[in-house]
Amino acid sequence: MARLIWHGHSTFTLETDAGHRIMFDPFLDDNPKSDLKRSDVAQLDYILCSHGHFDHFGDAVPLAKQTGATVIATFELCAFAASQGVSDTHGMNIGGGHEFPFGYLKLTPALHSGTVAGDEQGRYTSTPCGFWVDLGRDRRLYHAGDTALISDFALLRGQVDLALLPIGDNYTMGPVDAARAVEMIQPRVVIPMHYDTWDLIAQDPAAFRERVGAAAQVVILEPGASHDF
Ligand code: NI
Ligand code: MN
Repeated sequence: MARLIWHGHSTFTLETDAGHRIMFDPFLDDNPKSDLKRSDVAQLDYILCSHGHFDHFGDAVPLAKQTGATVIATFELCAFAASQGVSDTHGMNIGGGHEFPFGYLKLTPALHSGTVAGDEQGRYTSTPCGFWVDLGRDRRLYHAGDTALISDFALLRGQVDLALLPIGDNYTMGPVDAARAVEMIQPRVVIPMHYDTWDLIAQDPAAFRERVGAAAQVVILEPGASHDF
């Protein structure tokens, strides 16, 4: 069994059957909703960052140094992390996949903007992406990152068991577009993310669940709570 723990915003820890620990989009110390501080994180094997904005990448470099975790992201974001002293990085690009010890990971398109938090001179680009991970035994996980509603979601239809979708609006899809994304992707289970971190992205996840209806099971987590699958 795999366990997914939500830390608020788009930050999740995934613990696989084999005991690999993977963190998506670490945003801990400056995240008002996080249940976790960076100093609380002891063991971590991989850090996956969907793009360079501070609320997805801000803790990645110090966390990688603290834990020895490998940073996986787009090529340029990994180059920036390496320039900051992160010893293990694995650069990828949109549409590319790789077999990691925890499963097969592919970067998916996301429609968003990109700067790199901490890159004072603006030398590095950040092309936003999502993550599709096949953990085996019908457990294909999709972390959408920050994205608008895109027709590319149709390409994921039938390929996703558990989808993590932003519903906060303003910076990403809101609940109406996220419900349309569910119709397009047709996952079995959806966990909403990227909401309630600040007033500007306050949302009622129960209303999102009602809007999705029978199209998928919507699991609403509190920060610190987990979903086993
Ligand atoms: Ni962003
Ligand atoms: Mn964001």
